[in-house]
Amino acid sequence: MNGPILAALLFASPLAHAAAHCDIALKAGDSMMFDQRSVTIDAACTTITIHLTHTGTMPAGDMGHNVVIARTLDVAAIADDGMGATLADDFIKPGDARVVAHTKTIGGGEKADASFPADKLKPGEAYSFFCSVPGHAELMVGQLVVK
Ligand code: CO
Repeated sequence: MNGPILAALLFASPLAHAAAHCDIALKAGDSMMFDQRSVTIDAACTTITIHLTHTGTMPAGDMGHNVVIARTLDVAAIADDGMGATLADDFIKPGDARVVAHTKTIGGGEKADASFPADKLKPGEAYSFFCSVPGHAELMVGQLVVK
């Protein structure tokens, strides 16, 4: 869904991208852990891009990971509702409006990117990144800082 739109956003702002830190680059392997607990992006960003690398070997159906961006106070509810969704839906309840952005769910050796407009992050709100694969969110969660 929205593949062409996401692709257009991804290449929309090369100058802004070069001038500010607008990437959320995370790695995860065959355990329930991201390589970072906090990622800081620049408030000047117009487009933010998530880059997820699965450094393990297990397939998505066994130890898949994704990256979901949401308000910190929504993380637990999104993860709970995602348990009723499927891998095809990236373990996110279809149409969940609380989700700011998310990548595909990937397995070992795969990469996934997703871009979103920075103005989807509202000033004064606290945001987090997490993995919505069932059972992962409690450990695979971190703070997204905008400054
Ligand atoms: Co995960």
